[in-house]
Amino acid sequence: MIPDVQLIKQGAEARVYLGPFCQRQAIIKERFAKAYRHPTLDKKLTSRRVIQEARCLYRCQKALIDTPTVYLVDLDQSVIYMEYIPGISVRDYLVTEPGQEAEAQHRVAVAIGKALGAMHNIDVIHGDLTTSNLLMRETSGAVVLIDFGLSYVSQLIEDKAVDLYVLERAFVSTHPNTEVMFAQILEAYGESSKASKQILKKLEDVRLRGRKRSMLG
Ligand SMILES: Nc1ncnc2c1ncn2[C@@H]1O[C@H](COP(=O)(O)OP(=O)(O)OP(=O)(O)O)[C@@H](O)[C@H]1O
Ligand SMILES: [Mg+2]
Repeated sequence: MIPDVQLIKQGAEARVYLGPFCQRQAIIKERFAKAYRHPTLDKKLTSRRVIQEARCLYRCQKALIDTPTVYLVDLDQSVIYMEYIPGISVRDYLVTEPGQEAEAQHRVAVAIGKALGAMHNIDVIHGDLTTSNLLMRETSGAVVLIDFGLSYVSQLIEDKAVDLYVLERAFVSTHPNTEVMFAQILEAYGESSKASKQILKKLEDVRLRGRKRSMLG
């Protein structure tokens, strides 16, 4: 890695740095090899994830959905250079400032619901919706979707419902007493997503399946 960069997250599959790119601050996301995988297979899988992430980010950009602008994709090094979004994650917002005013929380919920509706309208399935993967811009408070490493394109109602279910589980497990907020997210989603009636209906089935599975252990 080039000097002047600061590691901000070391994950299981990627390292995320803050560093310069063409005279500005950028996020540099590097996927690395996994020692236990066969090198050729590993290179293929890593490349696929980098391409998936860049492709879905670009698809969102074209549709004017607030996501980090992709500056450069270096497939040889498995690195994506993208816009740095100054701000905090929705996770940190909820953890460090619990019990904010209902009105502020409602604004955030609506922004999340709208962003998800717009993303599903262009058939992007995020694949890893958590409150850490939703950032809030310091300047405007706008919600920005990040971390498209598991994203793909699909028109299926089922895939969109599962995407919402993943976020719901993330809310329940990390943020107690946010049922009202999640309901507000779904309400805003319902107003902005094209097939929302069917998707929200399917979400109920997905929840039932999830409950059955946890009862069976
Ligand atoms: N464009 C960005 N602007 C500001 N901060 C970012 C940006 N992208 C990532 N981050 C910060 O880095 C953290 C990790 O990034 P990201 O979620 O993309 O990686 P990851 O979870 O390790 O990846 P993956 O799940 O694809 O293996 C984020 O939670 C966020 O705090
Ligand atoms: Mg992440």
